[in-house]
Amino acid sequence: PAPRLLDRFGRAGRDLRVSVTDRCNLRCTYCMPAEGLDWLPKPEMLTDDELVRLVRLMVGLGVTNVRFTGGEPLLRRSLLGVVERVAALTPRPRIAMTTNGIGLDRLAAPLARAGLDRVNVSLDTVDRRRFHELTRRDRFADVEAGLKAAADAGLAPVKVNAVVMRGVNDDGVAELLQWCLDRGYALRFIEQMPLDAQHAWDRSAMVTQGEILARLGERFRLTPVPERGSAPAELFHVDGGPATVGVIASVSAPFCGACDRVRLTADGQLRNCLFARSEVDLRGPLRAGADDAELTDLVVAQMWAKKAGHGIDAPGFEQPQRPMSAIGG
Ligand code: GTP
Ligand code: 5AD
Ligand code: SF4
Repeated sequence: PAPRLLDRFGRAGRDLRVSVTDRCNLRCTYCMPAEGLDWLPKPEMLTDDELVRLVRLMVGLGVTNVRFTGGEPLLRRSLLGVVERVAALTPRPRIAMTTNGIGLDRLAAPLARAGLDRVNVSLDTVDRRRFHELTRRDRFADVEAGLKAAADAGLAPVKVNAVVMRGVNDDGVAELLQWCLDRGYALRFIEQMPLDAQHAWDRSAMVTQGEILARLGERFRLTPVPERGSAPAELFHVDGGPATVGVIASVSAPFCGACDRVRLTADGQLRNCLFARSEVDLRGPLRAGADDAELTDLVVAQMWAKKAGHGIDAPGFEQPQRPMSAIGG
């Protein structure tokens, strides 16, 4: 279908990120407090039928890629069925998932059969003790097994996402890269963004792309890979390639100008940006019996209103109310 999710800066929404739950089974210190958050009550969450209906609508408006996120998406019991139904849409979108990897050892093969094409697994350290401290759960072995199962199930390329934090894991970036190289996973380091539930992010403490590359440069020879497209990561060949490592420098080198993303939250709100200050409610109209044309008008208007960029470094920046865990990254 012709792209209809256009904004006034000439970008088109192609990549729909669907949060299927706001819950998580880890408690990463940079994401949520130890006690967790106030989870969405079940009646506020989209049902499978509602979710698939909205994805179908968005595919009709030009979305070609669907990514399931959370919270932790594997915690949604009906995930396999949802993937299967989205894979049955025409035209069939490419389907990916961003997960913490827990449960993937059991679910990778069934998900691949259901139509999942690839996974990104969040892993910030390969030191078991540190993993426990950082996530407040001793589950490094589960993630390790999940990654292996994903690779075995052909969910290629298996990507690893690592948020780099000062004094927490910044001294481990080279070790993490070697670990991923040894196993054939495509690692990407991420600059931390102001999306934590605790609102504790500090621009001056943030580990930048420049610092990450300098640290990696002590152990590896990195050469830039040209051709980036709308992908958030800048890629580098490691020691002459073919292996690569990426850096997602959302803060120090924003890629907003090429952004093709749009997000649907687990409670049916459409967000035109990670940092959007407002959302459009699709669940209400959906449940009130809106037809596709009415829903399309809401979606198209929201996309047109998309801002040029996140403005993190602009004066007066305020982080969105909804934390990363409820947006889905
Ligand atoms: P690929 O298609 O595999 O490249 O996926 P992805 O990198 O877009 O998805 P993933 O969920 O793995 O996101 C990795 C990180 O990229 C997230 O943790 C965010 O930090 C960052 N990111 C993803 N989407 C956006 C976005 O729209 N804006 C900004 N600023 N950062 C984003
Ligand atoms: N900034 C950047 N990335 C983040 N993630 C979680 N919180 C942040 C943040 N504040 C990452 C997770 C996961 C992805 C969905 O987002 O580690 O890889
Ligand atoms: Fe797109 Fe907003 Fe992310 Fe920028 S911050 S890349 S505009 S979603």
